[in-house]
Amino acid sequence: MKRIRKAVIPAAGFGTRFLPATKATPKEMLPIVDTPTIQYIVQEALDSGIEEILIVSGHGKRAIESYFDSAPRLEAELRKKGKFEQLKLINQSAAIQVFYIRQREMRGLGDAILCAKAFADDEPFAVLLGDDVVYNPYRPALRQLMDVYEKTGGSVLGCQTVPEDKVSSYGIVKGVPTDDPKCLRVESMVEKPAAKDAPSHLAVLGRYIIMPEIFEILEHTAPGKGGEVQLTDALCALAKQQPMYAYDFDGRRYDLGDKLGFLQATVEFALRREDLGAKFSEYLKTLKLD
Ligand code: G1P
Repeated sequence: MKRIRKAVIPAAGFGTRFLPATKATPKEMLPIVDTPTIQYIVQEALDSGIEEILIVSGHGKRAIESYFDSAPRLEAELRKKGKFEQLKLINQSAAIQVFYIRQREMRGLGDAILCAKAFADDEPFAVLLGDDVVYNPYRPALRQLMDVYEKTGGSVLGCQTVPEDKVSSYGIVKGVPTDDPKCLRVESMVEKPAAKDAPSHLAVLGRYIIMPEIFEILEHTAPGKGGEVQLTDALCALAKQQPMYAYDFDGRRYDLGDKLGFLQATVEFALRREDLGAKFSEYLKTLKLD
């Protein structure tokens, strides 16, 4: 069985839900407290044992490349002023080996993943979506999926149950039980169904281990929901050809594609911080708006 060494992070979207901020700043660079959201995603990949990362970027996303690059003038300035803590912070992101490819047209998530074909080079690979940040200090969500892959040898979708009014926001899975109560064998899946048509409330939440046969399917996948090439449609086809599993991963998951979800992440990550948590909590308790 081939090890999972590579991860793909699609980051080409316009981020229209966060305009006007995303007019000039990639949404992946919006911070939770003081750290760009993409750093949380990349860190989860590295903590899970991923060795190579491909970011599928697009127009107006150069800030992401600069973030994972060295910054000689800033570094010199921080060194001169003896700000070594800050120097360490900016050097951490520069030490990560990241590859890039640009998605030329916004043709959907499936098309973004197809851009990773040469990078994957016939190996199974991970996908992490930037809108889904998962907090689990013990076992990263992606690592949990990798464990399932190592046991089963099949593709694995990171899932959690969502309330009925949310099923139309996600890829929804139909599966049959396996020996592991947290793991279903996927029979089919559907992208963003109306609540009444949804086969379950089990939603795919931005973490995937995918077998390389997906690329041939993606090459022939017609645009689906919203006129976009949907990864969900290609995965559904793959599930008919070979075993695929839906794993109910452990962790607090935040939907950064949503303003309320972004605020929740900001508040909760700030409360967890050693340097900020106590003061921020005090502030929240006494907060009164005029
Ligand atoms: C994408 C996928 C969807 C998945 C979701 C997870 O949708 O198409 O299947 O459930 O991410 O966040 P998006 O949120 O990009 O519209």
